Amino acid sequence: MNDDSMKPGSTCTIKPAKNIVGTIRLPGDKSISHRYAMLAALAEGKSRFENFSTGADCQSTLQSLRDLGCEISRSADGVVEVIGSGGKLSPSSNPLDCGNSGSTMRMLSGILAGQSFSSELVGDNSLSRRPMRRIVEPLTLMRANISAGEHGGPPLRISAPISGRLSGIEYKAPVLSAQVKSAVLFAGLQAEGGTHFEESLRTRDHGELALRAFGAEVQRSRNRVSIVGGQKLMALNAYVPGDISSAAFFMCAAALFPGSNLIIEAVGMNPTRAALLDVLTAIGARMTVINLEEHHGEIVGTLKVEHGTLRGTKISGAQSAQLIDELPVLAAIAPYTANGMEIRDARELRVKESDRIAAVTENLRRMGAQVEEHGDGWTISGGQRLHGAKIDSHGDHRIAMAFAIAALRTEGETEIHGAEAASISFGEFWTMLDRIAER
Ligand code: S3P
Repeated sequence: MNDDSMKPGSTCTIKPAKNIVGTIRLPGDKSISHRYAMLAALAEGKSRFENFSTGADCQSTLQSLRDLGCEISRSADGVVEVIGSGGKLSPSSNPLDCGNSGSTMRMLSGILAGQSFSSELVGDNSLSRRPMRRIVEPLTLMRANISAGEHGGPPLRISAPISGRLSGIEYKAPVLSAQVKSAVLFAGLQAEGGTHFEESLRTRDHGELALRAFGAEVQRSRNRVSIVGGQKLMALNAYVPGDISSAAFFMCAAALFPGSNLIIEAVGMNPTRAALLDVLTAIGARMTVINLEEHHGEIVGTLKVEHGTLRGTKISGAQSAQLIDELPVLAAIAPYTANGMEIRDARELRVKESDRIAAVTENLRRMGAQVEEHGDGWTISGGQRLHGAKIDSHGDHRIAMAFAIAALRTEGETEIHGAEAASISFGEFWTMLDRIAER
């Protein structure tokens, strides 16, 4: 089924598979696409991105940037061109609709905080429940004029800085979040003086790499990143690497079946995103990296995934933070491992597009799995046989896709309700899954 034809409330039926075989190339990384588009909007000149994300979240970013006066085109072959504003966007006549995308709302706030006009950022029901104080606090310290709605969530209202310009800050982040880091750096780019952002663990570093790719100087030492305000960005031409968080679903699927042989070309393997390769290798899957190249600081390579007997594992601490987007699919395949999985320190999953801890527990139980839910994760026994079930995506792309993968090894068919949610990050998921799943 092609997602463009998928309406709200769509159901996809997944039949059990025998193997996962084929060679695939994935749409561009969502995190990188957001950042490239936003920085291109601030840069001077025309930027051009091949393999830009096809997900609805990045569309929300592109549409918001258009509403802020940027000329943006997208061709049928996935090339996005952005004509930069040279640092000065224009006010939007309507509230900026961030849709389901926390990345759009949080990172765009960092840019809008430094502009000389007022903006309002709104989102869908899911985004309207997500925490925004983590953005409001550092930006307020930078003397931004920003406020959140009730309970610290959207809508966000941002006006020109009271003193005319943002001020650089020294900030130790209380919440681990790459979106917050990028927002502060994007604000720092427009601020007076230097901005220093320190985190307890290096979260994904696409923001820093993208700033450098657009010509800005960014200093890094360990988990501290610094930028001096007032730098000009120059337009960029780049190929966006395939999204490793989308690849994660197929990597887990291939690991489940003895005859699998899956090749994923041109996928992003930035070390701050690639923890899944280590975990899958550690539990027994065979992963081969065929070649590696660097483009604008991002590592891109071809990956071969084959089955191995899957043991179990415990994931906690820093590893949980690095795997945050991949934990739902790891939990979904945990019952098929020999010893199961314990996943802890992942409380942040409760404030994603859905409460992903509750959604995974509910859907695993619908498939007949034994799972113990904790405030910050799950304990899932291994060696289980699951049955087909009716799954509820809760409107969350990663829940829909994670359970499509679990469904490949159930007895009987599974219906994924709310399957259209996948198009938030990966519209092509269902057709690609159909192509590589041998039945
Ligand atoms: C993202 C960072 C992570 C991740 C999200 C994308 C990014 O969120 O879960 O899918 O592009 O920076 P947090 O910043 O909330 O940790």
